[in-house]
Amino acid sequence: MSTPKHILIIGATGLIGQPITTSLQATGDFSLSILTSSASSVSKKPILDNLAAQGIKIVVADVTSATDIERAFQGIDTIVCALGRPGIDLQIQLLEIAERTLNVKWFWPSEFGTDIEYDETSRDEPTHQAKLRVRKYVRENVKRLQVRYLVTGPYADTFIGLKAGGDLRAGGYDAVAKTATLEGDGSGKVSLTSMVDVGKLLAASVQRPEVGKERPLRVNSFTTTPKELLAEFEKQTGAKWEVTYTSVEEMKALEKELYAEKKPMAGALTLRRIWASGRTLYEKRDNELLPPVELTTQEEIVAAMIKKQTAQ
Ligand SMILES: NC(=O)c1ccc[n+]([C@@H]2O[C@H](COP(=O)([O-])OP(=O)(O)OC[C@H]3O[C@@H](n4cnc5c(N)ncnc54)[C@H](OP(=O)(O)O)[C@@H]3O)[C@@H](O)[C@H]2O)c1
Repeated sequence: MSTPKHILIIGATGLIGQPITTSLQATGDFSLSILTSSASSVSKKPILDNLAAQGIKIVVADVTSATDIERAFQGIDTIVCALGRPGIDLQIQLLEIAERTLNVKWFWPSEFGTDIEYDETSRDEPTHQAKLRVRKYVRENVKRLQVRYLVTGPYADTFIGLKAGGDLRAGGYDAVAKTATLEGDGSGKVSLTSMVDVGKLLAASVQRPEVGKERPLRVNSFTTTPKELLAEFEKQTGAKWEVTYTSVEEMKALEKELYAEKKPMAGALTLRRIWASGRTLYEKRDNELLPPVELTTQEEIVAAMIKKQTAQ
């Protein structure tokens, strides 16, 4: 049976595209190309020079142009897509071209987040609509191409620091002020993956492409609760923190306000409300189905966040 060899990464210069590219390259198993926009070929030149120095081929192309994409797919057997949120729908054209380009055999769409088909309420979430359209397109139109979805839950690195819109009702940890706002009563479980681990787990999924045919793969670095995270922050800073709580109802109210004001942080609030409602938890994670990966610990994530916040 053939396995992925020649991979094209789309969105490789982005937030999650970078660790994904690093991890795929670190396996030594693949020949990598990345497709990048002409704007990024100028604005992200240092990143691209670094990738080129590692032997990664840089293809400057317009991701919306069918002609450019058909050309970029030549000689490629695997597409890994890490397009940012505004570009999720562009994947429908990419999938259509991949399906009819016979040398392309596998496609990992840009997911790497919350499970958009977690339960029956997921279909109404505003943040899920574009990814749901992509999955629908795959179900209805893709017959030959092998599509794999990697669901990771929230990124541990951003989850613990971010306060959506600067509003404490969104929850978060502040290592300078030594204050925290915990979601719910602080004991709800949340499943987190560090960005480095998203890259490693994606590379592991590409190394074992036969896994994930029937359903999305749900992976994580660790499962924790807001209270456990707080305890780790307090331990590492050697101080008792001032704690407030934000209920899911308060998060919903803030979310409504942000959507009414058309604030870009509204989507972040939706995701945090979903995470705080326990909808990133799986009965069983799928890490064990993939080649073993050394994962980031909660202790490491908290240490990195304290370092980042106190350096600012
Ligand atoms: N789990 C979480 O907590 C979490 C957090 C953030 C993101 N995510 C998910 O991760 C995936 C990637 O998101 P990201 O934040 O890493 O992406 P990003 O940094 O915003 O963008 C990734 C890259 O996509 C390329 N791109 C080209 N055309 C685009 C378009 N029209 N719109 C958007 N991007 C375009 C750009 O690369 P070039 O210019 O080089 O072509 C850009 O660097 C998404 O599916 C997102 O939902 C998950």
